[in-house]
Amino acid sequence: MNISGNRRQFLGMVGAAGAGMAVALRKAAGASRVLDSVPNDKPALLGGTPVHKGGWPQWPEWRQTWEPSVLDVLRSGKWYRGGGGHVADFEAAYARLIGVKRCLATASGTTALMVSLHAMDVDAGDEVIVSPFTFIATYNAILMGRALPVFADTDPETMTMDPASIESRITERTRAVMPVHIYGLPCDMDPIVAVSRKHQLAVIEDACQAWLAEYKGRKCGALGDLGCFSFQESKHLPSGEGGAITGNSDQLVDRCNAFHNCGRGVGTFKGPKPYFSRGGNYRMQHFQAVMLLQQIDKLTQDTVRRRENADHLSMNLKQIPGIQPVRLPENSRAVWHLYPFRYDATHFNGLPRERFIKALSAEGVPCSAGYQEQYFDGLLDEACESRGFKRLFSAQRLKAYRDSLKELKGNRQVCTTTVAMTQNHLLAERADINHIVEAIRKIQVHSADLAQA
Ligand SMILES: Cc1ncc(COP(=O)(O)O)c(C=O)c1O
Repeated sequence: MNISGNRRQFLGMVGAAGAGMAVALRKAAGASRVLDSVPNDKPALLGGTPVHKGGWPQWPEWRQTWEPSVLDVLRSGKWYRGGGGHVADFEAAYARLIGVKRCLATASGTTALMVSLHAMDVDAGDEVIVSPFTFIATYNAILMGRALPVFADTDPETMTMDPASIESRITERTRAVMPVHIYGLPCDMDPIVAVSRKHQLAVIEDACQAWLAEYKGRKCGALGDLGCFSFQESKHLPSGEGGAITGNSDQLVDRCNAFHNCGRGVGTFKGPKPYFSRGGNYRMQHFQAVMLLQQIDKLTQDTVRRRENADHLSMNLKQIPGIQPVRLPENSRAVWHLYPFRYDATHFNGLPRERFIKALSAEGVPCSAGYQEQYFDGLLDEACESRGFKRLFSAQRLKAYRDSLKELKGNRQVCTTTVAMTQNHLLAERADINHIVEAIRKIQVHSADLAQA
């Protein structure tokens, strides 16, 4: 389907929106299945009938066939990971899946990040260059080690770390770069790794939303020194809570293992006495591991379906003036933990994004604005004003740091224009996916009414 030849015509028409416009729109756009079915009805927000009435697949999903192994763990009385068992089986299976030599299971994605930062020798008073467009746990993992999260800017087209913005942020304190494959969108890793290697910085991938995402033939989580994953309940591979660290270096993963297990030496990382090294308890339980082991095939199948539906959505949505699907780096494949697009209100009679979100939700397509400029929410002020940070960083550095948050123009653009749907939409039938496109077209046709009401 290609209606791009009619784009200008279409644009002219939506400026003077009205209910009768849908008919003209159909004629102008030619034979397009999704477009042909644009309802002439009033927007649901103004009392019309919602385009989509059937709901969306529930998440998380579980299967009765999983019950015996969960019960086996219960009855075994072996719940703590100790050595071997289900957790070790999961680690081996997940390492194979991601295409790395080693995997260490952890209690959560946050603890995977904290452990990795420690293993890469990020210490109190250091700086880590990180994506600002992420779940808050990414910032917190750095702050908990009393290091400073220094934000690279976000490329508005890819919604991930802009590699060109890294180098100017490097200081003598910088130890690591932490790209985030947010929403399952792979970062453009080649230039990120190149600039990190040039300055001898560690690369820790936050792949907490990117199970099976690919960049140039390799999986996210296998592209830096260490990769971190989350298996929290909303995730594509869920076990309530859970996480993993992936990597190809025995030394690094053994170091992670020791730190996640009260500092106990293991493999290549051993000392003269049992407690020769610091650590915490960031271990996974066997209950989590059996849940995860049984979902690996499902993850692979679900990923295929999400990709097919996301590709179909992008192909259709990019035909709508004012809707810009995300651009993926060359030769990469996303896994769509959320499906985001950028919204340009000027093509919708100035309908504010928040009202667009309400209107789309009313049409039966729940959506949200996604991550906001959370670096202004207070946690960084609180950190910078804490006794510890004041001891570790000069007043001058902390002031420059706080001032620099205002410079994240690309990120602001993403935060103020994005609309996103959760991954479970992408597991629906194709007819339901088409409803998303229809609903957005309907809102565009009626955007003047919606903007005024
Ligand atoms: C990008 C990102 N990083 C880190 C985390 C932290 O993972 P967890 O919730 O398992 O601690 C999450 C979880 O949502 C995440 O989405």
